[in-house]
Amino acid sequence: MARLLVTGGAGFIGANFVHYWLDRHPNERPEARPQDRPQERPQERLVVLDALTYAGNRASLAPAAGRPGFRFVEGDVRDQPLVERLLREEELDTVVHFAAESHVDRSISGPDVFLDVNVVGTHALLKAARAVWLAGAGGPTPGGGRPHRFHHVSTDEVYGSLGLADPAFHETTPYAPNSPYAASKAASDHLVRAYHHTYGLATTISNCSNNYGPYQFPEKLIPLALVKLLGGEPVPVYGDGANVRDWLHVEDHCRGIELILERGQPGAVYNIGSDNERPNLEVVRLLCGALDEAFAAEPALARRFPAALAAAGGFEGERFAFVRDRPGHDRRYAIDARRIRSELGYRARIGFEEGLRRTVRWYLDHEDWWRPLLGRDYREWMRAQYGDG
Ligand code: NAD
Ligand code: TYD
Repeated sequence: MARLLVTGGAGFIGANFVHYWLDRHPNERPEARPQDRPQERPQERLVVLDALTYAGNRASLAPAAGRPGFRFVEGDVRDQPLVERLLREEELDTVVHFAAESHVDRSISGPDVFLDVNVVGTHALLKAARAVWLAGAGGPTPGGGRPHRFHHVSTDEVYGSLGLADPAFHETTPYAPNSPYAASKAASDHLVRAYHHTYGLATTISNCSNNYGPYQFPEKLIPLALVKLLGGEPVPVYGDGANVRDWLHVEDHCRGIELILERGQPGAVYNIGSDNERPNLEVVRLLCGALDEAFAAEPALARRFPAALAAAGGFEGERFAFVRDRPGHDRRYAIDARRIRSELGYRARIGFEEGLRRTVRWYLDHEDWWRPLLGRDYREWMRAQYGDG
């Protein structure tokens, strides 16, 4: 039995996790009524808490609406009384904490909100979990109080940047965050660790590499590139395009989190990745190839997206433009995922080319999801970030 609070469930990874979880843990019982006795209540419960910032989107949760056991609450993770009330009234035993400000470029132009949400917000959640789950528990006994789990979703960016010949990030690699985003996530990881060590909260942390897949806001490289290419604009590539990331399909990330919830050790940290290091230019080229394939197989796409370079059969060189580099741009991330593989039997299942093809297909089929996101705020962000040209 699991009764989950999923923070940030209307964001990219959170929404994918909600759908993944509901599909794999269906609650066949109808919604509980107040007069039901406890044993007649639905066993599985999934409550999303999301503040619906620019990155949160109710539409991403549409497939979950009406599923037994699912509830959406609009609210802020910094609102400790609200979190405590939800944990109590819904009898929740698990927090899966995705909510965060997540975009490195935004953290460079406006770091304050990253500290507020990622550090203060995580601390508010930890305080709420401690108050509800550890009330009456004596001291730092892992798992003391009521049975519970607090899973914190973090990033490989806390470890800093690697040289091309350096070994991949291991769970014991010293923290060396380089952007305000990475620093705020690092600070939140330390708080989670401290709440385990000091109060015995049953925590786990996962540090994952770059995700891609459905429902990703078009500010991160892959969905931004898709939206640009479909609109007939070149993909802006920072610097020389040789920065390396380890790309993981979001469904494989969700499977990793599920394994950690089910079998991970309280207090443990798990790196999640897929041995899939790619320079940015290669990612953009593969995306162009996947779009070309889709347009070649389906002539109707050229009518739906007449400006798309794939529709015009544009030359490779026209499809990206080198732009000013990101300040402090980390050169390379790579994940050593041996711990989660050996301890929990984890394997990433979706190969990169296949994952990109699926992602391209999803964005082609869900223009109704991404088109409304490209409004005035988005255009202003684009102008501020990339200039007019
Ligand atoms: P996202 O930006 O797409 O979504 C963040 C969600 O959090 C949004 O729905 C937003 O509305 C919500 N949110 C923001 N502030 C909130 C607040 N104060 N209270 C409640 N909700 C709030 O982010 P994502 O890419 O889905 O990332 C989710 C988590 O995974 C983050 O913690 C991020 O650090 C981590 N992560 C992301 C990646 C990646 O590649 N995207 C990789 C590793 C780890
Ligand atoms: P991003 O998707 O922002 O993720 P992160 O910064 O967390 O790794 O960026 C992935 C890589 O792509 C990173 O090296 C920066 C680069 N990038 C570009 O070259 N152009 C862009 O427009 C964006 C958004 C990112």
